[in-house]
Amino acid sequence: MTYETIRLERRGRVAVVTLDRPKALNALNTALLGELSAALGELGRDEGIGAIVITGSEKAFAAGADIKEMQPLGFADAYLGDFAGGWDQVAATRKPMIAAVAGFALGGGCELAMMCDFIIAADTAKFGQPEITLGVLPGMGGTQRMARSIGKAKTMDLCLTGRMMDAEEAERCGLVARVVPAGDLLETAIAAAEKIAGFSLPATLMVKEAVNRAFETSLAEGLRFERRQFHSTFALDDQSEGMAAFVEKRPAQFRHR
Ligand code: HXC
Repeated sequence: MTYETIRLERRGRVAVVTLDRPKALNALNTALLGELSAALGELGRDEGIGAIVITGSEKAFAAGADIKEMQPLGFADAYLGDFAGGWDQVAATRKPMIAAVAGFALGGGCELAMMCDFIIAADTAKFGQPEITLGVLPGMGGTQRMARSIGKAKTMDLCLTGRMMDAEEAERCGLVARVVPAGDLLETAIAAAEKIAGFSLPATLMVKEAVNRAFETSLAEGLRFERRQFHSTFALDDQSEGMAAFVEKRPAQFRHR
């Protein structure tokens, strides 16, 4: 399938999805959402893909939802059309997904990065939820995922003032997993994705599901869920292979990768 607002590249077991609306700083419009959902659906069905990197340009990961597309909407359009509801499908991607962020990740751009499993940021990255400056509030998870990720104080600060934070502050508060020099961003993210994609695919999916469960449930239920998932890995050839390889002092060759 060919796309107009994104680029999709396969590098072995890793897929790189590049947001590609340079004239609008990768603003997230309906066409881009449709294409990103289609691409993630395609990658989800492809057993040859074990991890996905989502990235943008040097200047912008994405400068938010497309303001020019939103401007003419009235309440009925937004509500009846469930504007931005389709992003839930992006967030529901089951395969591990890394956001590689350089430049602006604002509004919906920051929210898309937070839908990924972790963020690797270039030292040029700037994160923010500036919706308040437009007379609205975040609508793709900004108040929710950010509060769960970095806590109440900074989430309130960012969402109420609309200010941007740089990569160093984002790493300090835990929004970002790693910060790297801008020139190393994509290769670092791809290397991390390759590492993940080399492991057992069912096991990496279970890790993702279990960590995400931590944000949905009590500790006791989360622990029970994790342990049952752990038990279920003993039904996988990959568990036999992984443990045999350790004992035999050789690299594991995971069947389901
Ligand atoms: C549409 C956008 C855009 C956006 C930038 N552009 N951001 N178009 N939607 N979110 C366009 C500009 O209009 C301009 O096009 C071109 O991209 C370059 O942008 P400039 O402003 O000229 O660049 P610069 O001076 O470098 O400033 C960069 C910037 C600024 C600081 C990122 O563009 C900015 O403040 N953008 C808006 C950020 C924002 O408010 N994001 C939140 C959106 S609301 P033209 O054709 O004019 O030259 C949101 C809601 C999410 O995300 C929830 C949805 C449900």
